[in-house]
Amino acid sequence: MDQKRSRTFSGVKPTGHLTLGNYLGAVRRWVEADQHRSDALFSVVDLHALTVEHDPARLRRLSRQAATLLLAAGLDPALCTVYVQSHVDEHARLSYLLECTATDGELRRMIQYKEKSVRARAAGDGVRLSLLTYPVLMAADILAYATDDVPVGEDQRQHVELARDLALRFNQRYGHTFTVPRATHPAVAARVMDLQDPMSKMGKSHENGSGIVYLLDEPDVVRKKVMRAVTDSGTEVVYDREARPGVANLLDILAAATDRAPAELAGEYSAYGALKRDTAEAVVELLRPVRERHAELAADPGYVDRVLREGAERARGMARPVVDRAYRAIGLLPAA
Ligand code: TYM
Repeated sequence: MDQKRSRTFSGVKPTGHLTLGNYLGAVRRWVEADQHRSDALFSVVDLHALTVEHDPARLRRLSRQAATLLLAAGLDPALCTVYVQSHVDEHARLSYLLECTATDGELRRMIQYKEKSVRARAAGDGVRLSLLTYPVLMAADILAYATDDVPVGEDQRQHVELARDLALRFNQRYGHTFTVPRATHPAVAARVMDLQDPMSKMGKSHENGSGIVYLLDEPDVVRKKVMRAVTDSGTEVVYDREARPGVANLLDILAAATDRAPAELAGEYSAYGALKRDTAEAVVELLRPVRERHAELAADPGYVDRVLREGAERARGMARPVVDRAYRAIGLLPAA
């Protein structure tokens, strides 16, 4: 019997260069699993990059680079839809209806809002209102496509939970309109930590890049960053994320890069140096094909433009009926 394929949606925010965290937590699974087994859309979610201080020219560059990297990593436009969020109006159109569904209280509870608003204030910048409403736009990204699965890293769990809550609330008030989505996380490396500060997430917009491996870092830069990773005061290699976060992070990265289990790998090392060396080489090899393919694709911007144009067209066609249905359900008068 022909079963309906499930729908997948996920995205990456062009606020900085893509990192190993983005790759292991999200992009690699999109490439290896999601695009093959489901009807999948992957978006460079540029509207989300406007929620903090930004430079317009840099944003344009990073958006193009992110799209090119998604293709370089192996997303295949023949299998899935790759596009830029701002090219499809339905996201912003639906977001407003969801703002009328969410409450101020539930948005102020979001961990990322709390953290990032403190950072913006400390930098002397105002906190943009969109930083507060950002998870509602993210819910719109997901719900506009009748999404079943949202493959993300651990840090997005709370946001996908909000998308679920809003879908259920909207459906209950106005009749069944949205598919209720669920987050999926990788078994290993769902939260890759900063190599210099293993208590913090490896995040692309951090100022100090020495603990962050970027997908486009040269092999020698990757090696240097991994070899200089902060480890813990002990000397034994054990997998304990609480007591030994630095070593556990290296084991997670090595495990993800070699498809092994971190606790099992720990038993094979007796010193930190060897663990760092093997991790560095595994990451260099993992990223090598992505860097090489990126260089080829960056030399052919016409191809990337075409993929994004066709992707946006396809995405519009999928989102339009869902968003129109939501407009009718909530009581807005259809245009004659
Ligand atoms: P963003 O751009 O911060 O990250 C993109 C994806 O990478 C994952 N990720 C990580 N995974 C493991 N370890 C890390 N250190 C790490 N850093 C990032 C993220 O969990 C994410 O899956 N709000 C989202 C973008 C977004 C989105 C969406 C995602 C907007 N709308 C709709 C899914 C569905 C974000 O800021 O991701």
